[in-house]
Amino acid sequence: MNQKDKVPYVVTSKGHTAVAINAAAKAGEWIRSKLGTVKELNTKYSSQDLVTEVDKGAEQMIRKLILTHFPDHEILGEEGVEPGPEASTQALQGSLDANSDYLWIIDPVDGTTNYVHGFPFFAVSIALAYKGEVIVGVIYDPSRDELFVAEKGKGAYVHGSPTKVSQEMSLGTSLLATGFPPDQNFAFPINMAGLQHIAPQARSIRAGGSAALHMAYVAAGRLSGFWEIGLNSWDLAAGVLLVKESGGEVTDTLGRPYDLGVRHVVASNGHIHNELVESLKQAKATGLSIEKG
Ligand code: IPD
Ligand code: CA
Ligand code: CA
Repeated sequence: MNQKDKVPYVVTSKGHTAVAINAAAKAGEWIRSKLGTVKELNTKYSSQDLVTEVDKGAEQMIRKLILTHFPDHEILGEEGVEPGPEASTQALQGSLDANSDYLWIIDPVDGTTNYVHGFPFFAVSIALAYKGEVIVGVIYDPSRDELFVAEKGKGAYVHGSPTKVSQEMSLGTSLLATGFPPDQNFAFPINMAGLQHIAPQARSIRAGGSAALHMAYVAAGRLSGFWEIGLNSWDLAAGVLLVKESGGEVTDTLGRPYDLGVRHVVASNGHIHNELVESLKQAKATGLSIEKG
């Protein structure tokens, strides 16, 4: 056998979850070490959609680590996709149609605006889907050194302690979160309409600037619910499994079951889910029409 016919050595002994944890932790540590040193700050879809060399470097690092163990798995990472909702939808479909049952979905830095400003609320988000269903979700917050891990059917944990959604039964006692989407044309005004309608009904609302961490916080019972219009699969996939495995609920903004294509999301402790969805419908702030879906 000459050199070029040699099959590359593949490290197979590590499980999917261990690889996801290792990649998230390594990338997270590197991201934290680069805090305050950003040299290349660029914009993508809008002037509020930021990207830096750290986002790109972290994604490369995660891709390499995953491919070391699973060279034939498919990977969808935010920084490998052209900006904008249409390109995201197409890239997801392309990845789902590709030749592998396993699809890794990566957001190397969720909360880039926070990262650029030194506001310590950003995370690495890594999910693994099998035949379109998320089976592993890992979110790592390097600022607080908090690692959230979920495995389908096996529960969700933060540093080994099971996570559990909160117990609030109505919006009136709920702490909610949402975001300020960078897409000024479509998502932003709709989300603002929802915010204006829901804010007076809730105990209070936060907009921390990381959808992935908001999802992890719903899982951990620190938030009662979260909604946002115009997200991407990489913002949500890992967090969805965390919320579900912690006893919560995740749907689109019309209350239909989550799938990887959902961009307008509601996640909650389950008890307040209908009230939150109904409130968005009343405000005409779902971003969806029942007819069009
Ligand atoms: C953003 C964050 C933010 C949300 C935006 C996302 P990024 O992701 O999750 O909280 O409001 O809609 O785009 O760009 O920091 O990875
Ligand atoms: Ca993101
Ligand atoms: Ca990102």
